[in-house]
Amino acid sequence: MRKWNFNRSVHRLSVAGAFLLTVAACAPYAAAQHIETSTFNQSPKRPAEDPKAVEHGKQVYAQKCASCHAADLRGTDTGVNILRSQPALTDHGNDHLTPIMLGQWTGMQSHKVDISNADALAVGAYVRSMLALIGSQGRAPYDAMKQPNIVVGDATTGKATFDKTCGSCHSAEGDLKGFAKKVASPKLMQAAWLRGTYLGATPVVVTATVTEPGKPAVNGTLIHIDDFLVTLKVDDGTQQTFERNGAVPKVVVKDPLDAHRNLLPKYTDKDIHDITAYLVTLK
Ligand code: HEC
Ligand code: HEC
Repeated sequence: MRKWNFNRSVHRLSVAGAFLLTVAACAPYAAAQHIETSTFNQSPKRPAEDPKAVEHGKQVYAQKCASCHAADLRGTDTGVNILRSQPALTDHGNDHLTPIMLGQWTGMQSHKVDISNADALAVGAYVRSMLALIGSQGRAPYDAMKQPNIVVGDATTGKATFDKTCGSCHSAEGDLKGFAKKVASPKLMQAAWLRGTYLGATPVVVTATVTEPGKPAVNGTLIHIDDFLVTLKVDDGTQQTFERNGAVPKVVVKDPLDAHRNLLPKYTDKDIHDITAYLVTLK
């Protein structure tokens, strides 16, 4: 056991060493290359893999590796995260990955995988093709992974539910006309209608009325509120801050999106699926 660990750490050191040397040697070139397109801490571009090998490797990976390393390569309790594995990240043309899979190298000697040479080469191509898609700062290649389609509801039922639940405030021909064009991704669109707002929406104005004992009520746009202070922007453009002490002064907040918040616990999953299926038709 100790010997194995020793080998493993030597292996890691040599990989790390080789990596640092490579980085040092390439640094001026890499720096010059990345000036224009630089995204902070972007990993270097990898050469494209043979698409046939990638496709085959993907299937073999699903059969022989995914149970331990997860379908998205991010690892499970029984296998490490390959997207963060040094030997995988520093692999070039299967110099690390294939020997690990074939058990010729420290790295995965505790788990023998029954895999042919040809299949191991293909899995290597697939793994590198996924590593090539990692975003800046090691962000997993989510975009390349299959996103489940969330449009699973029934649009006709959705229209009926919409008319009943939302019709008092919205209309498909009025304010929500073309809404599915405005927020094109169904996933973001569902989040948008549930919350009643989204990135890029006209901000909703929250107002409040503060009434101190024996004084006239002050109305304004709510700037800040917590248990101790409330700040309003009043009509003349100035801000007024009031100290809060329990129920004094009396504060009444009017948030137009309260309607949305109050609806949240009332939807069934089916309501949500159906309404989304209807709203994606509002193109
Ligand atoms: C039965 C579970 C299991 C299966 C199946 C499996 N692995 Fe592993 N793999 C591991 C474990 C656990 C490790 C961590 C090292 C160890 O304990 O041997 C590992 C290590 C690795 C490493 C080295 C990671 C590092 O940073 O040192 C790579 C690369 C790897 N596996 C790729 C694969 C590929 C590709 C397949 C499919 C051909 C595969 N593994 C199948 C469990 C598995
Ligand atoms: C009591 C009124 C009310 C009800 C009921 C209501 N909403 Fe809203 N909704 C609002 C308000 C207020 C906003 C804030 C933006 C605005 O004024 O249009 C909003 C915003 C939205 C937005 C974002 C519009 C945009 O472009 O900014 C969507 C989409 C939306 N609601 C969908 C729905 C759906 C779907 C339902 C029913 C499941 C629903 N709403 C029920 C009042 C309501």
